[in-house]
Amino acid sequence: MLNELLEKLNKISAAVEKEFAAASSAAEIENAKVKFTGRNGSITALAPMMGKIPKEDKPAAGKAFNEAKALVAKCMEEAKERLGESASSAESVDVTLPGRKWPMGTQHPVTKTIDECCAIFRRMGFTVAAGPEIETVANCFDKLNAPIDHPSRDPKDTFYFDDGRLMRTQTSTVQIRTMLAQKPPIRIVSPGRCFRRDTPDATHGVHFHQIEGLYVDRHVTLADLKSTLKAFANEFFGEGVTIRMRPHFFPFTEPSAECDFSCVMCGGKGCRVCKNSGWLEILGCGMVNPNVLRNVDIDPEEWQGFAFGMGIERLTMLKYRIGDLRLFSENDFRFLKQF
Ligand code: DAH
Repeated sequence: MLNELLEKLNKISAAVEKEFAAASSAAEIENAKVKFTGRNGSITALAPMMGKIPKEDKPAAGKAFNEAKALVAKCMEEAKERLGESASSAESVDVTLPGRKWPMGTQHPVTKTIDECCAIFRRMGFTVAAGPEIETVANCFDKLNAPIDHPSRDPKDTFYFDDGRLMRTQTSTVQIRTMLAQKPPIRIVSPGRCFRRDTPDATHGVHFHQIEGLYVDRHVTLADLKSTLKAFANEFFGEGVTIRMRPHFFPFTEPSAECDFSCVMCGGKGCRVCKNSGWLEILGCGMVNPNVLRNVDIDPEEWQGFAFGMGIERLTMLKYRIGDLRLFSENDFRFLKQF
């Protein structure tokens, strides 16, 4: 077996030397290489023989293989050198020419905000979770305790597929997915795209981004929620920002609140952006409704949680002083280049 292999390799080696010596262009050199060590090359084709070589002969066989391959490399180098002399004068590079400038892309402002939010919450011990944009009615509404006649379920407001699934209208779906997949304690944020049948204008789009937060553990209180949101406000917008919570209603939280940040444009004195109120509506939040916990088989007697959800575009517009939501999806370089 060994002898047969050595004989074949010997023959091929003779051919290698001839072939490269005869090559008269870069293409011919490349072809010669493929012919011997390419995927279907004659040396490559002998590799399966290795399996049949008796154990004691394997080192010798391996050595012969390596030598054949090394010969290909050596002959190729020599052929290149030989040709190089005649080729280089025609293909020489003018090193005095100025370099070509490669246009560098920039991060989309929405992506920047998502990354920054995730970084802030990571520092507070949250991990980042993801969920799909196409969702079931169960994950988007039922399990989130949305009453059967809740307006957001209406096909006038939500995009449905023929099979009954939908484009998620909120990232709250990831709360359900996470709680079904893992046991408490749970501490996640989940950024992503949402879809609603809105008529696009300066502050509404058919698709937009939210970031969801969920913390489920023993003894979680409203104070934990408030301090987490305050810490986020200060990290994202700066130390001077204060927050306030106003009672509100969401099906998946009880009690629920809307959280306002003191206006980041005027510092709370009142301006056009905050409509002279000194406050900006930023997010919805609350203590996870016990019904939601029951829907995912978590015992509300043992575990409590808080949740929140906020719009990424709104955060981005306030941070970078962008006046119109449509700029985010127009793909205008003059806009995008600024970030
Ligand atoms: N999903 C809500 C919306 O799209 C936002 C929200 C409010 C999320 C309260 C929450 C929450 O997690 O607790 O309007």
